[in-house]
Amino acid sequence: MASPGKNPELIAAADEFAAAVKEFDGNPAEQMRLLKQADKLRFLLESPMDPIMKQWEVSSLIAAMHLLVESGTLEKIPVQSSITSKELATLVGIDESAIGLTTLSSKSLFADNLPNIARAFRLAVMHGIGVEAEPNVFAHNLKSQMYLRGGAVEFFRICVDQMRAFIQLPEYFKTHTHDDLYDLTKSPYAYSLGLEGLTYYEAISHDPERLRMFNMTMMQMEQSIPILGMFPFASLKEEVEAEPERPFVVDIGGGRGQCLIAIQQEAPNGFGSKLILQDRPDVIGSLTPEDIPNIETMSYDFFTSQPVKNAHVYLLRRILHDFYEPVCVKILKNIADAMGPKSRLVVADMILPEKTEVGAELIPYWMDFSMMMLNGKEKSRKEFEEILDESGFEIVKVWKYSFGTQAQIECRLKAA
Ligand SMILES: C[S@@+](CC[C@H](N)C(=O)[O-])C[C@H]1O[C@@H](n2cnc3c(N)ncnc32)[C@H](O)[C@@H]1O
Repeated sequence: MASPGKNPELIAAADEFAAAVKEFDGNPAEQMRLLKQADKLRFLLESPMDPIMKQWEVSSLIAAMHLLVESGTLEKIPVQSSITSKELATLVGIDESAIGLTTLSSKSLFADNLPNIARAFRLAVMHGIGVEAEPNVFAHNLKSQMYLRGGAVEFFRICVDQMRAFIQLPEYFKTHTHDDLYDLTKSPYAYSLGLEGLTYYEAISHDPERLRMFNMTMMQMEQSIPILGMFPFASLKEEVEAEPERPFVVDIGGGRGQCLIAIQQEAPNGFGSKLILQDRPDVIGSLTPEDIPNIETMSYDFFTSQPVKNAHVYLLRRILHDFYEPVCVKILKNIADAMGPKSRLVVADMILPEKTEVGAELIPYWMDFSMMMLNGKEKSRKEFEEILDESGFEIVKVWKYSFGTQAQIECRLKAA
């Protein structure tokens, strides 16, 4: 708190929070709203030094989780029971003293056989991730299980991978011009890996493990970045069935088909028309037909002419935020050239608020900062309007998600 004495703003926020908690029935959008309110309470309670302490707590947690994930430690903890830190260290096959030694004497630690893995785990437990059932006996809970396998842990790993670029930003800006951020081969990300000269996606593909991590991450983010619930794909049924020879949806840069799979919940089997997934050759090459039922694949570079003409819908999800405006216009013009008079373009991205409001959704802001690492940016409504207009589109409707900044912008070609 800024000064001693009662804080009416804090009391009002606490009352509001308590009332909302009593009404909470588990609804995911409401849960996100409540978390924001809890953040607001914390901001109001913090002293000026507290944010710095919080940052350090989170940095330490990230380092501890990185160690636990990359050493395979979490995988060795039984999901249904518990394990001692000593058993854990033996199972992981890592000398206990080899973990967390950078600031301590390895000799004395080794001699004392201090359970270093437990030190990382304890920090996790303090953040609600895992439990210490008894002294030095650890067990999973639902939060620690998120780090076991699947998209969530790959998201964690890709975030850690990007931290190298975060840390090097001051050095990047000292050694690069403003225009370098517009040069796709000079991203802070590629710079941080010593891979300048490659684009972000070439740098991702440079290491097959990194490419796998990235693709898995893109598949898992639906809870915070929804696919359905905005543009009404189901409403096109009659239109698509009337002209089935026109592909239904062309998902450009669609990754592992996550959107086209989700869209089939609303449009079973694409209403009898083609669902086409386009992406870079190594992403397409990593897919099996079982991964993407009812979906046709096509290796395609969206900087070249679009080969699928006159589809019902061209979908661009989380593509334009990877780039600055002039590059977006190039991608959009390739789509415009392929569209027929009745084709729609659906741009699915976040819309950055015009003004920063504390307590609003945080994702667009960390996402925007992350996009800077790869020569991209989140865009405001005005910025979307400008690039769409320049590329020959008019906006039909902005379909917003029920909460936050997610939106799908439905467009058509401008009338001639
Ligand atoms: C941020 S991901 C979004 C994936 C998917 N649209 C989604 O929302 O989950 C960007 C995708 O664009 C693909 N991509 C990048 N450059 C491309 C290019 N020049 N041509 C086609 N696809 C590209 C990447 O491989 C990746 O799958």
